Amino acid sequence: MAKLSESAVAQIEAICDRYEGEKTPLMMILSDIQNEYGYIPLEVQRIVSQKTGLSVAEIYGVVTFYSFFSLEPKGKYVIGCCLGTACYVKGAQIVIDRFSELLGIKPGETTKDGLFTLDALRCIGACGIAPAVSINGKVYPKVDVEHVEDIIESYRKEAKGA
Ligand code: FES
Repeated sequence: MAKLSESAVAQIEAICDRYEGEKTPLMMILSDIQNEYGYIPLEVQRIVSQKTGLSVAEIYGVVTFYSFFSLEPKGKYVIGCCLGTACYVKGAQIVIDRFSELLGIKPGETTKDGLFTLDALRCIGACGIAPAVSINGKVYPKVDVEHVEDIIESYRKEAKGA
């Protein structure tokens, strides 16, 4: 198991300290850790447990229940394909399958080069423009399976600074 650096431990402890005195600080702590540290592995959950007095089992349960928390580092670009009902009936499964095929990863996985993470999401509140795909917060409306390759390429180019 990877050992956390001293600065990472200090960062996690400082985030926990922000919510000292809060009655139910766990979601706030975990959200900040996800945003600032990038993921919430077991070593980090242990620190949160020591700081809050909550059991690791309880923290683990929360981290694994919500899809926006991650046990693994995420890619530079997080592709969230909505598989909610409105998107599903408009072909979202074909769209996510195409992302999966072109990237060589399943939903929940990250490409080896660390560039892309593919996530299957529930409704993201954009049913009127189904099927919707969100990439690092930017929402792509009415995504056609034919456009998936171009979308991926545009991010590959951006990553190369082109
Ligand atoms: S079901 Fe996909 S945005 Fe609502």
